[in-house]
Amino acid sequence: MALVLVLDDVTNEELNRQVNDRRNRLDALGELTGGIAHDINNLLASLLYAVDLAGTATTSEHQARFLGIATTTINRGRQLTTRLLAFAKRQPGFAMAKPVRETLTEFHDLIRPMLETRIEIQVQEADPDLLVYCDPAQLETALMNLVLNSRDAIMSSGHGTRITLKARPVAAPQDRPGAKSRNDDKGLGTSAANANHRYVELSVTDDGPGMNNATLIRCTDPFFTTKDANSGTGLGLSMVYGFARHSNGDLRVYSQPDGGTTVQLTLPRGSDLSLPKAAAPDTPLEKGAGETILLAEDEPDLRQMTRDMLVTLGYQVLPVGSAQQALELLQDSNPFDLLLTDVVMPGSIGGFELASRIRQVHPGMPVIYTSGFTGYTPDEMGPVTAPLLQKPVHPRDLAAALAAALRD
Ligand SMILES: Nc1ncnc2c1ncn2[C@@H]1O[C@H](COP(=O)(O)OP(=O)(O)OP(=O)(O)O)[C@@H](O)[C@H]1O
Ligand SMILES: [Mg+2]
Repeated sequence: MALVLVLDDVTNEELNRQVNDRRNRLDALGELTGGIAHDINNLLASLLYAVDLAGTATTSEHQARFLGIATTTINRGRQLTTRLLAFAKRQPGFAMAKPVRETLTEFHDLIRPMLETRIEIQVQEADPDLLVYCDPAQLETALMNLVLNSRDAIMSSGHGTRITLKARPVAAPQDRPGAKSRNDDKGLGTSAANANHRYVELSVTDDGPGMNNATLIRCTDPFFTTKDANSGTGLGLSMVYGFARHSNGDLRVYSQPDGGTTVQLTLPRGSDLSLPKAAAPDTPLEKGAGETILLAEDEPDLRQMTRDMLVTLGYQVLPVGSAQQALELLQDSNPFDLLLTDVVMPGSIGGFELASRIRQVHPGMPVIYTSGFTGYTPDEMGPVTAPLLQKPVHPRDLAAALAAALRD
């Protein structure tokens, strides 16, 4: 028996590949940083003008108008940081329940003009009661990435004419043979903890050229693209994957050469309870009746401003800078009516744990969490599931949340 062993030195090739990879990543990072700096500069410029003009305004009407512009600018900045955090995979954005049917209709109106007339887009009508729980803006971006991928594949190959969007409720992310999922090893949907979760499966199918196995395996990798340098960054599917994972969902890709492609995005199903109850902008702020709020916030300026805001709203405040201090107050048996706590605080005890310790002493104590990140699951909250307000919290939302929690 003869054995032939072929040794090929790929060290240099591998080194070149790594250098190239790194260069591409740095280029993309540079572009991203430049884009962010540019956006922040614009926001700062309008904020500077607005505040300056409000300071010198001669009538209260003018002043209110400039302060209004400042508030709008701050909200734009808030949206920007939310998107960036979502991109950095730190949080799922502003998660809310939204009817899938509405999402798909709006999306269809948005995408149709972007597609060539030879491409037919079909959106299957979804059950009007089916809600999906995620950040709707990110979902729209994700669907757009998927549909544009299908369009690019169809147009560049000349193969295929149709893109179909469907939605259906599923018990858990569904496996079909031949799936490419980066979640396979994580067992999402099969573990006992997730067995009762309800999901919505949104799928985008095209009858385009499909992918060969080598492409399929890498398609969700960041910076992987088969497009030329000017038309693809290779971040589309990896962003959709990041969005799915951080919304507690999953992404699966099915494709074969000449067999078209289906991408399945599975997201948590929403309930009526998770539909946001937005306070109308003109309604007066809901005031307190002298109730005492235990306020735990480690950032001193924010603690002071929140305290002032609570006093303006008609509450008394016990401000503390850490969970430890809050627990000390508890030992001194200071009476209070509600705990308003930051989630992440220095020391070993965070907001969730603080709430649970306080409930051990005061069962039924109303709790409201505030955090820079949204999207904590009830599992992460531990024993005390309570409303979570995202910082910066608008005074109207804070007033409404306090009034509701004290009423319940
Ligand atoms: N529907 C599809 N049909 C065929 N190939 C696809 C499809 N969707 C994705 N791919 C393949 O997966 C690769 C990665 O897709 P991804 O969306 O991550 O990046 P991209 O589209 O190349 O660039 P970007 O989205 O950043 O502009 C694509 O370059 C393409 O080869
Ligand atoms: Mg893409």
